[in-house]
Amino acid sequence: MSVFVPDVLAGQVALVTGGATGIGKEICRVLGRHGARIAITSRRQEVLDAAALQLREEGIDVHVESCDVRDAVGVERVVAGVVERYERLDIVVNNAAGNFPAPISGISPNGFKAVVDIDLLGTFNVTKAAFEKWLQQHGGSVVNITAPFEGMGAAFQSHVAAAKAGVDSFTRTCAVEWGRYGIRVNGVAPGRIGGTEGVRRFAEAVPGSQGRRPNPLGLTGHGSDIAYMVLYLCSSAARLVSGQVICVDGAGGVDILKLDPDGP
Ligand code: COA
Repeated sequence: MSVFVPDVLAGQVALVTGGATGIGKEICRVLGRHGARIAITSRRQEVLDAAALQLREEGIDVHVESCDVRDAVGVERVVAGVVERYERLDIVVNNAAGNFPAPISGISPNGFKAVVDIDLLGTFNVTKAAFEKWLQQHGGSVVNITAPFEGMGAAFQSHVAAAKAGVDSFTRTCAVEWGRYGIRVNGVAPGRIGGTEGVRRFAEAVPGSQGRRPNPLGLTGHGSDIAYMVLYLCSSAARLVSGQVICVDGAGGVDILKLDPDGP
């Protein structure tokens, strides 16, 4: 049960990239249940259609359009489509991400580039398109989903950690450049969230990693833990919060990322 009033985002429109699965879908669900109309973009149409069906059954107004966030022209088309359909765009959640756990020695230049392009360039493409099409004139809120690696090394995640460090830097710069337009830009860094593709891939690549205590609180993270932080950041309660990257990770759970990738 939510602690937020159900109409906290009434009348607003949110675009969530990668919103058809995992944490992204939970963000769509929580924002939708609190009054927002939801637009989702991701690469696979069949996954988008399934998510739209499910969310509409829950009473949420959903618009979907497939796109690869690396494709700036496609992104502009998606953003224009959202504004055309809903006649506004108040919230952008850059959630789409690529990830495969691998040691540096196991990552090709193209593999490194794929993750940097999806996470960092994709965030730039979507944010810039939304700024030009709507946010510059009307203000709004951008939330970038990132990773809790700031200031530390993270084994098996060199590409992701580099990309997300760039995302966090971009978050802070956007917040400074665009404050004058009434645009707030923040990041949310999820710790280990149960049931996600990222955790599943990690469990396969790093056997034994799941047996450990997930964080000092001993709590398994849920997608809703991330979604409620996004909801708070998009609400007027956070009107003075911008340029921040907030970890939602139970006080840190990245011990597995300190493992020697070549084993003990
Ligand atoms: N280990 C090492 N390299 C890998 C890899 C793995 N597990 N998976 C993909 N790659 C490499 C590929 O070999 C390729 O490099 P190459 O051309 O030198 O061989 C490169 O990554 C791009 O592969 P491709 O399949 O073309 O990727 P893509 O651009 O279509 O997809 C990925 C991007 C690779 C990041 C893909 O894993 C992805 O999109 N994952 C998203 C889902 C996900 O993980 N979500 C959770 C986020 S936390």
